[in-house]
Amino acid sequence: MARKIVATGRGGAGKSTFVALMSRYLKPPSLLIDLDPDLSLADMLGIDLREQGKRTVVEALYDAVKERQRGGSPLTPVEDRFKGLLWGDCLYEGKGFDIMTLGTKDMEGCYCFPDHLLRKTIGELSKNYTHVVVDSPAGLEHLNRNIISEVDDLFLILDPSEKSLTHIKKVKLVLREVGTIYHRFYLVGNYMFDDAAVKHFEEVGELFLGRIDYDPKVEEFNLSGKSLRQLPESSPACQSVKKILEKAGLT
Ligand SMILES: Nc1ncnc2c1ncn2[C@@H]1O[C@H](COP(=O)(O)OP(=O)(O)OP(=O)(O)O)[C@@H](O)[C@H]1O
Ligand SMILES: [Mg+2]
Repeated sequence: MARKIVATGRGGAGKSTFVALMSRYLKPPSLLIDLDPDLSLADMLGIDLREQGKRTVVEALYDAVKERQRGGSPLTPVEDRFKGLLWGDCLYEGKGFDIMTLGTKDMEGCYCFPDHLLRKTIGELSKNYTHVVVDSPAGLEHLNRNIISEVDDLFLILDPSEKSLTHIKKVKLVLREVGTIYHRFYLVGNYMFDDAAVKHFEEVGELFLGRIDYDPKVEEFNLSGKSLRQLPESSPACQSVKKILEKAGLT
């Protein structure tokens, strides 16, 4: 069964960059799941999912529901039809990792049904992978959705601000209230951390694994749509993510 990893944090902290770089070092095959409606994780990996004929989970679900309403495949429950769509239409199979994205909600109602189906399907899919890694949207809302109810490694990516201190407490509170089980809870400083910030966050009483070093190439690659998996191994950002994963026992 795959080790389940979640990266979370405030807006723009560096969650997607962390997940993209992490995918370089995890023992393949990994399944990457982008819960961010902006679909930025695939971009960071140099993949244009539309061009590849892939759709988001929400889009596939929308079709399954519509088909059902039109009276098509009456014997196939929406859940089963959806599962087929998810495999064929949503899952992009890359080299060493696969990726799928949740997408934006364009159906009426909340994310409850897509979330429910995703939760179920992740359970089944995870048998095929060594790791399932979730890139979260900004903030806390996604934690309420409890898509992975038992997380092995939860990485909270921080920016060096007082708000981050409050954010740590809020994340833990939401996890407790929702009943999400997590086995390991890690703090990671983002590329804006200086030595003083590192020292400060090392003393907040949670396991601080280190900071991700700044690398102008990360921005350059993101802007040009080049995959972060192609950054040179000497990149300070890559080296620091590698060290963080070693400390977490993930390499
Ligand atoms: N180590 C780094 N060195 C240089 N720039 C970085 C680094 N990490 C992230 N960035 C830049 O910071 C910005 C935000 O990063 P990223 O998109 O990974 O954050 P995020 O937390 O996923 O954001 P969002 O909340 O919008 O999903 C990007 O422009 C990215 O290029
Ligand atoms: Mg992101």
